[in-house]
Amino acid sequence: MLPFRTMGEIKDLKGKRVLLRVDLNLPIKNGIVQNDFRIRRSLPTVQFLRKKGAKIILIAYANKSTDSLKPVAQHFNRFVRVGFIPAVTGSLVSSAVNKLPNGGVLLLENLRSVRGEEMNSLNFAKELASLGDIYINEAFSNSHRAYASIMRLPKLLPSYAGFLFESEYKNLIKARKPKKPFYFILGGAKVETKLPLIKYFLPVAKKAFILGGPANTFFKVRGYETGKSVVGGFFTGLKSLVNNKKISLPKDALLLSGKISRTDGLSREDKIVDIGPETIRGLKGCIQEAKSILFNGPVGIYDEGFSHGTEELLKMMARSKAKIVMGGGDTVVSVTKLKLENRFTFISTGGGAMLEFLATGTLPGVEALKKAKNGF
Ligand code: 3PG
Repeated sequence: MLPFRTMGEIKDLKGKRVLLRVDLNLPIKNGIVQNDFRIRRSLPTVQFLRKKGAKIILIAYANKSTDSLKPVAQHFNRFVRVGFIPAVTGSLVSSAVNKLPNGGVLLLENLRSVRGEEMNSLNFAKELASLGDIYINEAFSNSHRAYASIMRLPKLLPSYAGFLFESEYKNLIKARKPKKPFYFILGGAKVETKLPLIKYFLPVAKKAFILGGPANTFFKVRGYETGKSVVGGFFTGLKSLVNNKKISLPKDALLLSGKISRTDGLSREDKIVDIGPETIRGLKGCIQEAKSILFNGPVGIYDEGFSHGTEELLKMMARSKAKIVMGGGDTVVSVTKLKLENRFTFISTGGGAMLEFLATGTLPGVEALKKAKNGF
């Protein structure tokens, strides 16, 4: 039993104005969308609502308040015709909504361009609510943000979870109780956001592989020379973990100089940019014997092009019989690039939201839907 209502329960959608909160926070370079996984994952819901004759108003935010969602709307048009409105509130928006035919789709401008979104403003939420009859949260991956479109709208309109939201919830709830032997493979940039996750999964994991940026922080706490590697400044809470026998750190690393080095033998000039071949080989046996794996990458400095380690691990995992759950923006980019999207149990659209949900079992957006206004 789910703790919130889902959109499959809505009796009549014909002619209803649906405020559909989606995650369209996509990587964009020179006005071109670089990865459309999140769009593709929201399509079944959009198509379902169109078939039922609803009027769909997509609401979403971009990474920064100054970014426009126009390039996203252009990309969305490859799949479904979407009219882009370069505003979030006001007469331009209300008149476009009034003219929207049954089955039509509009996308409003970046919600973050209005301060009320991040400030969780009731007045802003009321303005948004006036555009719709029903609210559907399909943005599980934004639901760790206590923003107006996530927290307030469910109090103002009959509210439901979308298909993707439902699927994220069900799969990640299951992932919190992994089948053993279970391995936990963690990369990314900063350890601070991952500590609650490490603490939650360590007792059930056979081993936790701490790689990428978090590993550098562990090295520092162990007293190793980390040279010019990205270390971060977060050490509290790590002291109790750093000698835990279940935690495995990379044995070797690729350095910016192109050399491979043991991680306990760095000089002050060295910088770690990826995991090394011995570390990759060391993971192989564990990936083969695992019944379940949780992977949150990347394990190298991905945005500077050091993707080899991440891709090698993904290929090994794609050959494994284990139940594999993963997420995080750069991980998804690699999976798409390697055409491995269908080879894993579940790929979450979430980055921070996935981590928070796995660590705590809930999110502000989940709680808001639980207490939502009654449906039709
Ligand atoms: C993400 O990319 O993880 C989500 O879209 C959340 O983005 P945010 O950190 O900008 O809120």
